[in-house]
Amino acid sequence: MEGIRIGVLASGNGTNLQAIMDACNRGEIPGRVVVAVSNNPKARALGRARLAGIPAVAMHHRAFPDRDTFDAKLVEILHSYEVDLVCLAGFLRVLGPSFIRQFPERVMNIHPALLPAFGGLGMYGDRVHQTVLESGVRFSGCTIHFANEAPDGGPIILQAVVPVYDTDTAQTLAERVVAEEHRLYPEAVKLFAEGRLQVVGRRVRILPAREAAAASTE
Ligand code: GRF
Repeated sequence: MEGIRIGVLASGNGTNLQAIMDACNRGEIPGRVVVAVSNNPKARALGRARLAGIPAVAMHHRAFPDRDTFDAKLVEILHSYEVDLVCLAGFLRVLGPSFIRQFPERVMNIHPALLPAFGGLGMYGDRVHQTVLESGVRFSGCTIHFANEAPDGGPIILQAVVPVYDTDTAQTLAERVVAEEHRLYPEAVKLFAEGRLQVVGRRVRILPAREAAAASTE
């Protein structure tokens, strides 16, 4: 069984891309990463994909006249690799509605906090953890959600919680969160690949394995 074809978009280090590729290689996800794309030609994510023998495409957003042209090229690349699922893994470009419409309920994103808190435009990287610390909350975590037209706004698939300690800095909190991200993202992709995610309005229902198998043979 070949499983699903996954396209990953990443702008930076690519540790979530790595976690997804590793889970595919271990046979935990029925599918494989077929292409990685970055808007940052220097992204370590591209090197990780190449090392794994996966096509890695760099397309600098500044080489495009506007967002729509950039998004259209991305769509073209992802369609050419026949991807079933697009995973945003530290991808620091906002994708427009025309992109999302091409992959309805088939674009996932990871956010390093418990949405709907600490999300939205401009909330990325250390700024998220800094804002979490300043707010005084006792818990943070990460969220995997389907992307829709609102930044960090789509239906939530999975969340993991970590404690926030009095002694935390943005960096120590980020390390605790990222360890959970590497566990959670592959888990969400696995559920998708098994056909176990059903979007009902704002909510995502996780079907038991048996129910999903029955639905796919109906
Ligand atoms: C992660 O913390 C993710 O939540 C955020 O960007 C970071 C990406 O890290 N959106 P990496 O590139 O996967 O290492």
